Amino acid sequence: MSAPLRQHLIDPEICIRCNTCEETCPINAVTHNEDNYVVDAAICNACLDCISPCPTGAIDNWRIVKQPYSLEAQFEWDELPEQEEDLDEAEGDAEAREEEVQSLLAEAHEGAGGQARAPASASKPSINLYSRAEPAVATVAGNFRITHQDSKSDIRHIVLDFGPQSFPVLEGQSIGIIPPGTDERGRPYHVRLYSVASPRDGERPNHNNLSLTVKREVTYIGGIPHPGVASSYLCDLQKGEQVQVTGPFGNSFLMPNDPEANIVMICTGTGSAPFRAMTERRRRRRETAGRLLLFFGARTPGELPYFGPLMKLPDSLIQKELCFSRLADKPKEYVQDRMLQRPEVVAELLQDEKTHIYVCGLKGMESGVSEALESICRGKGLDWQTLSADMRENGRFHVETY
Ligand code: A2P
Repeated sequence: MSAPLRQHLIDPEICIRCNTCEETCPINAVTHNEDNYVVDAAICNACLDCISPCPTGAIDNWRIVKQPYSLEAQFEWDELPEQEEDLDEAEGDAEAREEEVQSLLAEAHEGAGGQARAPASASKPSINLYSRAEPAVATVAGNFRITHQDSKSDIRHIVLDFGPQSFPVLEGQSIGIIPPGTDERGRPYHVRLYSVASPRDGERPNHNNLSLTVKREVTYIGGIPHPGVASSYLCDLQKGEQVQVTGPFGNSFLMPNDPEANIVMICTGTGSAPFRAMTERRRRRRETAGRLLLFFGARTPGELPYFGPLMKLPDSLIQKELCFSRLADKPKEYVQDRMLQRPEVVAELLQDEKTHIYVCGLKGMESGVSEALESICRGKGLDWQTLSADMRENGRFHVETY
């Protein structure tokens, strides 16, 4: 009989199919079909590179098995199989093996950027309190358009009230939304993840509610519009309707509690949600010791979520660098272009050990932002690769793109 082994699995109930694990895996052990993301036991070497980037924790599941589950079996799952009990005793050995792997990994990641970590002063987040099997039920307390009526983007500020259920979130965390109904194959829709846009004490303080920033997504296939399932569902919700919610998720993209920490926020579109939460936390607490610097990109002011309220925030709270890519009378400007226009302030902050950098929004911006930071560093005799590895290691550099 072959010795039991510890198989790496992905929980299909929690997974939001964001593809992060497949992109991260250095040896292509993660794959997917139209239903599930799965790990190929014949390839996976338990390097754990995929664990920390996963926004939901779905990736961090393990079973002691005699025979590994095949890809075909995993593709069929709606939920993870239970651990077979008599094999559970082998867990001790497996844990010892994993500890060994972890320490090798820590060595391997030294100087190479390391794994995502929460800021040292962040509060401890609650995660995975509610699942698809046992979701929280929230009531819609409001649904408002926050882009200009004439603009093409329909971006909405949606407030969800959790009533008597405990649903604690921190700034930077996300929640899952279960769209009702089934797809064309009769299977329940996948959970979709949205960043929370309100601070930890709620959209309306102490009312057990939170807000989301949701853009109505439409894809065109052969010129025919296909509305996004979850975004259309959310954008069309009426006050008083009920929504099934999972989560909360996320344990590293969190804000520092240290009021003296500087926070550099770089975002596009709805990637601004966690930054609204962080800024609002600082505003409510009247914390101005640490600096807030925001680079925010949108097509036009009318398409920039929260443009009006953002303009009202005083410079003493936050330095706003808003950039627009589709103004009739100006050349296209992206966030990374504006950063290059502000080398002094960016470099000064980069050299301060109290500075935390957050990037959130379109995946495409990631490389542009990285090149801008590299260039600013070079101009000041700094090495961005070394600095970013150190910042990541100390929970001061965070990227969440989609
Ligand atoms: P663009 O006008 O070129 O699409 P969206 O409205 O699609 O959510 O995008 C938000 C903003 O992000 C837009 O101004 C968009 O510009 C911009 N953007 C698109 N690609 C990138 C990129 N690679 N780096 C930075 N910003 C980008």
